[in-house]
Amino acid sequence: MSNYTIRSLKTLEELKAVERLQRLIWDDPTTVIYHHMLISLARNGGSILGAFHGEQLIGFVIGYLGLEAPESERPAMANLKLVSQRMAVLPEYRGTGIGYELKLAQRRFAVERGIRLITWTFDPLISRNAHLNIRKLGAICQIYYRDYYGSDDSALVKLHSSDRLLTEWWVTSNRVEQRVSGRRSSLSLQQYLDGNAVILNPTTVNAQGLPVPAERSETPHSTLTLFEIPTDYDAIIRYDSGLAQAWRAHSREALEQLLNQGYVITDFIHGTHGGRERSFYVLSYGEYSEIRVNRFNRN
Ligand SMILES: CC(C)(COP(=O)(O)OP(=O)(O)OC[C@H]1O[C@@H](n2cnc3c(N)ncnc32)[C@H](O)[C@@H]1OP(=O)(O)O)[C@@H](O)C(=O)NCCC(=O)NCCS
Repeated sequence: MSNYTIRSLKTLEELKAVERLQRLIWDDPTTVIYHHMLISLARNGGSILGAFHGEQLIGFVIGYLGLEAPESERPAMANLKLVSQRMAVLPEYRGTGIGYELKLAQRRFAVERGIRLITWTFDPLISRNAHLNIRKLGAICQIYYRDYYGSDDSALVKLHSSDRLLTEWWVTSNRVEQRVSGRRSSLSLQQYLDGNAVILNPTTVNAQGLPVPAERSETPHSTLTLFEIPTDYDAIIRYDSGLAQAWRAHSREALEQLLNQGYVITDFIHGTHGGRERSFYVLSYGEYSEIRVNRFNRN
């Protein structure tokens, strides 16, 4: 889809429309960022971008300024990042590149202000978001949070769990530059496998056709390793909550362990493998130590 526009939102009316769109998408008042907060953000250096189809707001992304290493004594100016708090696109417009374009507009906002890092969190079991964040945008992840928003069910907490990965988008890095300009060729699953990467937890499929995680993950023995997740975790939540909880426990244990060992999530693959739709995180060892900052001081 190409007939939409993206612009910065500043007026009260525009920000009320962002509030209404959130209500439509989440149907949970505790999750909505209200217009009075948004107007404050917009007038104090934050970035609220909207995607429009004609006059209709169909997507948005909200960002505010934060500190890259909150405990650091470095001057704030040398420590600035943009925190991307929320992005959404109306369901009927999804999958057409609007989320990607909103993120690129957010990147332009950051680069113009000399900001090199944008962070946000996402549920590690949502394949669609992992594909967008890691594969398309070139972000990396090295920090896993258990129950980031607590465990009381809400639109952000499902089955008493709200684990998140921290997405680090180093917007001026060569890696991101090459990814978003299309100059970095994307490796396929087969190319990773040919390069000695091993799938730690290949799934099987149960009688309902839902992917079941391997009993336990293999121990990684290569600098490149693949970790499988379901392609549609929301469907598993709907049809088999026990299996959804098993997936959470499985991925939490394995991803925490891998990241604590020094692996960094550097790519994501979604496609057909073994005759069905599959999704895999690619974790690399040793490649990103130079940007591993203050990981235990973040919260
Ligand atoms: C996340 C969200 C904003 C993305 O917006 P969008 O406009 O659909 O994003 P895009 O179309 O630019 O990119 C989505 C990509 O995911 C791909 N995708 C869709 N389903 C997928 C799946 N199950 N697994 C992997 N990738 C998937 C799409 O094909 C597309 O990639 P492509 O362009 O390479 O084909 C939108 O899905 C949304 O509003 N979700 C609900 C709120 C939310 O989760 N917010 C983000 C929190 S981080």
